[in-house]
Parts: sequence; structure tokens; C-alpha cells
Amino acid sequence: MPGKDLIPPTPTTEEYGVADDQGEVFTSDDPIDLFATWFSVAREKEMNDPNAMALATVDATGLPDVRIVLMKDFDRRGVSFFTNSDSAKGRQLNANPWAALCFHWKSIRRQVRFRGEIIEVSAAEADEYFAKRARGAQIGAWASQQSRPLPADGALEHAVRDLERRYKGQDVPRPSHWTGYRLVPTAIEFWVNRPFRLHDRLSFDRAGDGWTHKRLFP
Ligand SMILES: Cc1cc2nc3c(=O)[nH]c(=O)nc-3n(C[C@H](O)[C@H](O)[C@H](O)COP(=O)(O)O)c2cc1C
Repeated sequence: MPGKDLIPPTPTTEEYGVADDQGEVFTSDDPIDLFATWFSVAREKEMNDPNAMALATVDATGLPDVRIVLMKDFDRRGVSFFTNSDSAKGRQLNANPWAALCFHWKSIRRQVRFRGEIIEVSAAEADEYFAKRARGAQIGAWASQQSRPLPADGALEHAVRDLERRYKGQDVPRPSHWTGYRLVPTAIEFWVNRPFRLHDRLSFDRAGDGWTHKRLFP
């Protein structure tokens, strides 16, 4: 059967059973504080990109789409990331400004999910972050027509060279299509691995200015 040998056998119950016991990890009734605590653990333990998160959107036909983006900021307003507003995700979010995010930190066997409304960050916030990026990344933001077909080999490299010439000796301005979005959470769920797949889940729903929470079966 094709692919048979590519997928190793599923671990046995015993192998799952020896998963580390992490003790009490639901240390706050406030999901924002709890996320901050979990993220600080992930930052210490996760080898690459602890801020990488899957961003799920829905296209005009109702078909879901998903890809990884990097969380730029997190605070009581929500979770922000930056991208090209003309990209597939940008167009999907413009038409339907609702999304979901999912972090999975393999090193600590935890997952956090967010659902909520998407709002674009202010031009001032986008300008401030763009100005801090490496010059190469600034040029790249102009050069990449993200999600569009790349016509020929070398087209991207040509565009980069042209832009380097155009902006020689000057600051690179932020392209209007390069911006940030903030997911304003209406629901946040925390998941932690437990032995024998008896995982713990804590789910928060926004209620006015505060949050309600409940435990869920794994
Ligand atoms: C670790 C990682 C981080 C990424 N971070 C971003 C990001 O912050 N912003 C972004 O636009 N694309 C990021 N990407 C690329 C996206 O996954 C995706 O390929 C791109 O945004 C185009 O997606 P779209 O066609 O659905 O719009 C990242 C990919 C990986 C694997």
C-alpha cells in the first residue's frame, strides 16, 4: 500500500501512559493571564517559533483554509499577526472577518485555540512594526505578491533587485497591502496532554467584560 512504510505504527497505550505528568497547569481563571503563563513556558521549551500558530479562515464558498503565521503581539485586546492583505488569507478575512488560531507546543504537549473576530490594526501600529523589520524583509514585503502565481523563475529575485535600486539610500515605506490583523477572542481553549489520553481541557467563553469557563471531556 503506498505510504504504508512512511507512517510509523501508532504508539501503544503504554507509550502514551508514560507521558510526563505536568501537575496543575490551569493556574488562572483569566484566559489572558493563563495564555501569558503558558506562552512563557513555551518560549523556554520550544526549539523554533513558539509564536507560530495555525490561522484558519473561510473562503467565499465556505471552504476552510489554514496556514501558519507568527503571533506578533498578545494583550487584552487579542492576538495580532502581520501579512499581505492581498494574499488569499487577506482576501478571505476582508470578506469574512472571523477566524480561528491554534498553537501546538510539541515540547510541552499543550494546545491553545482561539476563535473570534478579526480587525485590522491601525496604520500607526503597522507602520511602527514595519519600521522595525530588517530591510530585507521590508523589501520582501514589496516584492512578494503573496499567494499570486509566480510567473517565471527569477521573477522574485528581479523584483527584489529593482526594489533595492529604487529605495537605495532611503527608508523603505510600508506597502499599503502589508498590514496586521488582530483576532479579538470570543472563545479560548487550553488543552494539556495527560496519560492514557485522559487529557485536560479548559474552555473559556467571553461574557461581557469577563469570561465564563468550563472543563470539557477530552
Ligand atoms: C513558521 C512559519 C511562519 C510564518 N509566518 C507568516 C507570517 O507571519 N505572515 C505571513 O503572511 N505568512 C507567514 N508564513 C507563510 C504562511 O504560512 C503562508 O504560506 C502565506 O502567508 C500565504 O498564505 P495564504 O496564501 O493562505 O494567504 C509562515 C509560515 C511558516 C511555516
